[in-house]
Amino acid sequence: MSSQSPKPNPPTNALSVEAISFSYANGHQVFDQFSLSARPGEFVAILGPSGCGKTTLLNLLSGFQQPSQGQVQINGKPIRPEREELGYVFQSPQLFPWLSALENVRFGLRMAGQGSVGEQRDKALSYLRLVGLEHAAQRLPQQLSGGMQQRVSLARTLALEPSVLLMDEPFAALDAISRNSMNEEILRIWAQLGQTVLFITHDIDEAVFLADRVVVLNIAPGGIHSELQVDLPRPRSNLQTRRLPAFLDYRNELMAHISHVMAQAPGAIQTYSSPELTA
Ligand SMILES: Nc1ncnc2c1ncn2[C@@H]1O[C@H](COP(=O)(O)OP(=O)(O)O)[C@@H](O)[C@H]1O
Ligand SMILES: [Mg+2]
Repeated sequence: MSSQSPKPNPPTNALSVEAISFSYANGHQVFDQFSLSARPGEFVAILGPSGCGKTTLLNLLSGFQQPSQGQVQINGKPIRPEREELGYVFQSPQLFPWLSALENVRFGLRMAGQGSVGEQRDKALSYLRLVGLEHAAQRLPQQLSGGMQQRVSLARTLALEPSVLLMDEPFAALDAISRNSMNEEILRIWAQLGQTVLFITHDIDEAVFLADRVVVLNIAPGGIHSELQVDLPRPRSNLQTRRLPAFLDYRNELMAHISHVMAQAPGAIQTYSSPELTA
C-alpha cells in the first residue's frame, strides 16, 4: 500500500475563463458563455472594436467584477482578493505626481509590505534598470516623457513579480515612435521574465508584432470572432519583423477579420489605427 499521494499536475493554463456570462447593472450584456485561456508564458493579444468588452474582460480577470455564471481561474485556482499573481498595466501611467520614479515603483512594494525600506529601494531600482530608467530614478513624473512614465508604471507592476500580466492598451496614448520602441521593450522584458501576458489593443500591427496568438472579439456579446496563431520568429525587432512578408500577411488577414466584425455592426465607429494595407 503506497502512502504517497500522486503529485498534482501543474495547471495547463495560466489563465482561464470558462463559459462566463456578465451583464452590467443596467442590463447591458457583455459576455454570454464566453471562454478563453492562455498557456503559461503565452503572449495573447486581444483585438476588438471599442465597446466589445475588452476592459470588462480584464476587470473580470482581476476580480474587480464577478461573472454571473462561469469561472475565472489564474494558475488553476479561482482568483483571490489579494491576487499577487496578477499584474495590471493601465492605458494611463497613473503615477503619483509628488513621488519620484523610484518612490512610485517602491509604492507597490510598500503596500505589499515586502522587505525593509532598503530592500524595497534596491528592488525598485533593479526594475527601473530593467525598463531602462535607472538614470531617471530621482525624477518626478512631470520631468518624464509619456513613454518614460509608462515605463515607470510598468516597472511598478513588474516589481511585484506577477506571473500573469494584464495590459489594457498600455501604449495607446503614446506617439507611434514611442509605441514601437515600447513594443520592443515589452518583448525583451517578457523574454527575460516569462510571464503570461494578456495584452489588449486596437492596433493590428501591435497585436501581430507582440503576440503568439491574436484573439479577435466580436461586438458584445458576440464572444470570440476568430483566433490567429502568429508564428513569426523571435526575438522580434521593429526593423526586421515589421517588414517580413509573413508580418504583412498576418496583418492583412487580421484586417479582413476586423472588417468582418465591423460589417456586423452597422453604424459602429471605426476605431482602428489602420496603416494602409500592402497588397
Ligand atoms: N459601468 C457600466 N455600466 C453599463 N455599461 C457599461 C459599463 N462599463 C462599460 N459598459 C458597456 O459595456 C460594453 C463593454 O465596455 P468595455 O469593456 O469598456 O469595452 P472596450 O474596453 O472593449 O472598449 C460597452 O458597451 C460599454 O458601454
Ligand atoms: Mg477598454
